[in-house]
Amino acid sequence: MNLTLKIWRQKDAESKGKMVDYPISGIEGDMSFLEMLDVLNEELISKGEEPVVFDHDCREGICGSCSLQINGEPHGPDRLVTTCQLHMRKFNDGDTIYIEPFRAKAFPVVKDLMIDRSAFDRIQQVGGYISVNTSGNTIDANAIPIRKEDADEAMDAATCIGCGACVAACKNASAMLFTSAKVSQFALLPQGKVEATERVMAMVNQMDAEGFGNCTNTGACEIECPKGISLENIARMNREYLAASLKG
Ligand code: SF4
Ligand code: FES
Repeated sequence: MNLTLKIWRQKDAESKGKMVDYPISGIEGDMSFLEMLDVLNEELISKGEEPVVFDHDCREGICGSCSLQINGEPHGPDRLVTTCQLHMRKFNDGDTIYIEPFRAKAFPVVKDLMIDRSAFDRIQQVGGYISVNTSGNTIDANAIPIRKEDADEAMDAATCIGCGACVAACKNASAMLFTSAKVSQFALLPQGKVEATERVMAMVNQMDAEGFGNCTNTGACEIECPKGISLENIARMNREYLAASLKG
C-alpha cells in the first residue's frame, strides 16, 4: 500500500503544533498500525530527521499506552481494539490517514503524539484501592461468597486499561466512563464496601479537579472504548455518589 500520513508534530507542551505530510510506501495489510509508524520512523532516522514520538508498551492491548486519534476516532476505525491491535488491512491503497494525539485539556501533549495521562493516575490514587489485613491473617478471597453476576460485572469493569479513548471521544472531554469503571469494580464486591463512601466522593472530586468535563449521555465513550466498558458503570457511579452525598 502507498499512503499519505498527516501527522501532528509538536516540539513540547508550550510549542504550537501542526500537521505534517509524510508519504509512505510498501505497507502490508498484516502490519499493525504501530509497525507502520515504526517503518516511517526508520525512514526518518535514516534521513537524519526526528522520528515521530508516540506512546506504546505492551503492543497486546493490555497496557493502555498506545493512544492515537486516527481519522478523528480514538484507536481508529476498528471496534474493541486498541491502536496497537489495529491492522493496516483496515485501510486502502492511496488512503490519506490523519494521526493526532488524544485531545483534552487534562491530557497535555508531551511531544508529537504523546500525551500526559497522569490525571488518570491521580484519580486512581485517591480511591482505587481497598484496605486489607496483610499481617498473616489475610482471608482467602475465595472464602467470601460473591454472586456470579456481581463477580462477572466487577471483572468487566476491571478490564478498563486507562487508555483515555473515552475522554478523547467525548465532546466534553469527560472521564466519567474511566472513573466509573474504577469505582464499579469495587462497588460490586463486598471487599469494596468498607471504603465505598470515601472512594466515590474522592474519585469524582479528583476527576473534576483535573479539568475533565461532565457527562451529557452522548455515549461516544462506550462506542470508542476498546474494552467495551458499559455506560451502566456511569449510572452505578451516579447512584454511589448520591448515596455517599446523602450520608454527608
Ligand atoms: S473506559 Fe475504556 S476508553 Fe476509557 S480508559 Fe477505560 S478502557 Fe480506555
Ligand atoms: S501498546 Fe499496550 S495497549 Fe497498545
